[in-house]
Amino acid sequence: MTLTADTGTGAGTDTAGQEQAAAATAVAEPLFEIVPLSGNIGAEIRGLDVRALDEREVAAVRAAWLHYKVVFFPGQHLTPAEHLAFARRFGEPTEGHPVIPGLDGQPEVFEIDYSKARELAAAYGRVGTVSRGLDWHTDVTFVKRPPLGSILRAVVVPPAGGDTLFSNQEAAFAALSPALQEFLGTLTAVHNGEAQFKGILDLVGEGRWEGETFVRLEPATHPVVRTHPETGKKSLFVNPGFTSHIAELDRAESDALLAFLYQHSVRPEFTVRYHWQEGTIGFWDNRATQHAVAGDFGDAHRVIQRVTLRGDEPR
Ligand SMILES: [Fe+2]
Repeated sequence: MTLTADTGTGAGTDTAGQEQAAAATAVAEPLFEIVPLSGNIGAEIRGLDVRALDEREVAAVRAAWLHYKVVFFPGQHLTPAEHLAFARRFGEPTEGHPVIPGLDGQPEVFEIDYSKARELAAAYGRVGTVSRGLDWHTDVTFVKRPPLGSILRAVVVPPAGGDTLFSNQEAAFAALSPALQEFLGTLTAVHNGEAQFKGILDLVGEGRWEGETFVRLEPATHPVVRTHPETGKKSLFVNPGFTSHIAELDRAESDALLAFLYQHSVRPEFTVRYHWQEGTIGFWDNRATQHAVAGDFGDAHRVIQRVTLRGDEPR
């Protein structure tokens, strides 16, 4: 699909929209090319230099990002400062991470070097190990206002493996029966970062998020089904990385329901699996997705840097 200035997102699925897009493509200069990567989530955006986006391109990228949930820009090779500048076109960067310090001089840039096993184990505890990658999660849901999105830069890519998988939580919610959708809409879930980050928080002394410092992580409570603030669409909003339990249920009921939802929410048809190249930028909507890292790269070097955008309170 080729996106033009006259066709808006180009991400619509209705026939009229496609015909309109086809007609406009014939007369307007293409802004960029969108290549969908699976049936439900993910697309590559080609033909853009993300260092030099004009306002039309920013709006079109945002629309494509909202539709595809995660978009990738191969061949960008940004510096950390350029990475941060790109992120600022789409929102307000947060601290790199609430607990793990960012790069020296650039606290908004959070680096993970997967070769540093002890560092990773300290940072991710039960969720991540070098041999197992990172299990399914949504970034930083254990705070009151989890991030809107994250922008990842592939710095060092293993010769094989180290892919990231993303799952569309709107599609997962839409595939549930109406009765279960309705029930889930009455529930809230507790998200707790202590299991993973208490160790490193104790080590670094204090954490920082949205300008506030803290010495312990208070759990956050969010709706199990959240409504997207930009699209109005509903999605599942629980994840095995940080959700501890459903507040309104008995613990055994909560465990059983969450186990079902975790399995359902990452069914293959809701996912895309992306193989990185050095220099690729990936940008995901953290409000409607989960992601996981395949731990199949052994001792090979893998380094990513991430900039995170400030989000709102899930509703
Ligand atoms: Fe993550």
